[in-house]
Amino acid sequence: MAKVKIGILGFGTVGGGVYKTLRNFDDVEIKKILVRDITKPRNISDEDKHLLTDNPDEIINNPDIDIVVELMGGLEPASTYIKTAIENGKHIVTANKELLAKQGKELFEFAEKNNKVILYEAAIAGGIPVIMPVKTILAGNKITKIQAILNGTTNYILTKMDKDGADYSVVLKEAQEMGYAEADPTSDVEGFDAAYKITTLATIAFGKRVSINNVYREGISNIKLEDIKAANELGHKIKLIALASIDEQGNADVRVHPMLVPNNLTLAHIDYVTNAVEISGTPIGKIVLSGPGAGEFPTASSVVGDILAIASEFDRTDYILPMMRCNHTQAAIPVDIKDTYNKYYLSFTAPNTPGIIGKFGSLCAANNISLQSIVQKGVQDNNTAKVIVITELCKEDDIRKVIAGFSECTVNSLIRVAI
Ligand code: NAP
Ligand code: HSE
Repeated sequence: MAKVKIGILGFGTVGGGVYKTLRNFDDVEIKKILVRDITKPRNISDEDKHLLTDNPDEIINNPDIDIVVELMGGLEPASTYIKTAIENGKHIVTANKELLAKQGKELFEFAEKNNKVILYEAAIAGGIPVIMPVKTILAGNKITKIQAILNGTTNYILTKMDKDGADYSVVLKEAQEMGYAEADPTSDVEGFDAAYKITTLATIAFGKRVSINNVYREGISNIKLEDIKAANELGHKIKLIALASIDEQGNADVRVHPMLVPNNLTLAHIDYVTNAVEISGTPIGKIVLSGPGAGEFPTASSVVGDILAIASEFDRTDYILPMMRCNHTQAAIPVDIKDTYNKYYLSFTAPNTPGIIGKFGSLCAANNISLQSIVQKGVQDNNTAKVIVITELCKEDDIRKVIAGFSECTVNSLIRVAI
């Protein structure tokens, strides 16, 4: 393998992990590393300090560099730097899921026009190899469903709340300190990060472009300890699930929201920063890929794998890694969340008056909803009753009608249940 020369844009959690990992490789040479603040103290050896720069041109316009590794995050200037680098003949490795979800189509077309590749294994599920498997060894499958835990920060928070009764904001701080969270952790806890990831993953798995604008999203910031406890009593765990399914006509239901996951499903047992991607298709059936989904070294593993994949084909062919290129032209047809069918966990508080549960039952019946279970959790001092319901499979629009029509009740939580 010819010695490959790379420039790294960003020296934070992931950039630092890539730098440390590449010290073990003789055939990859880091030429420059871009940072915003060159005076900041950094974990870099004295002899490598000269590699740091705050001038992007020393990387994206440097004729000595073959691969630009974008690990800054955000849309701009990352997008402009990537396009300039491509124009200047460089291949790209990136971990930037937001950029891929929002500008993937444009960037992949631009790369193809310039006969360059963009690899992004680290952008989806951190250290788990999922992009390369889907594009290569699973290419003979018609993938119809993905059910996944794609955000380490939220899985860490939910696990700590479940196992230790930990406080949400304390655990979020821990996840930030461990380098799992995004620069703005709203992206994690409100489900944006997982939505970016499932957008790209569904696009490549279904072979049809999914638009981030059509991905329904809810985060975990409203999940209460009492829901986690109630879920446990019902034999479930609460997880932030990224879901994508497609039918024969190309209708794609792609979304991210918390779910009650029954204990008999693998995803219920994926804890802390671990991610898991369950892929269903023909002829494979169902597989689950699982591993560390965030953090310095797991993410570096995927970034370095992509660098080496490009390097291994250098000087061998003019058209490298054809299977890894993205050339989907057809768009998936979006399915509105209101038209989806789900089971629901509903927790509501209602006045403790005769007939109140009867009214709820009548509303459900009028909207085609059958109940799997209904439990009243005693009567509180203010003469209200807390009720927990699990429905059978029903239409989202119908459960919303029930809630809208049940004016006496206060909804505490409405969480979909995985099947
Ligand atoms: P980070 O710790 O915040 O590091 C970002 C780095 O980029 C910093 O070194 C920063 O410079 C530099 N930077 C940012 N904006 C810049 C600009 N305009 N000009 C020059 N340098 C700039 O972020 P991270 O956690 O490593 O994440 C990097 C990317 O990987 C993001 O796209 C993220 O979504 C993705 N990712 C992260 C993980 C993870 O576990 N953390 C996992 C998978 C993917 P300074 O150091 O000077 O501030
Ligand atoms: N913030 C992301 C997470 C990093 O917690 O999963 C990995 O993409």
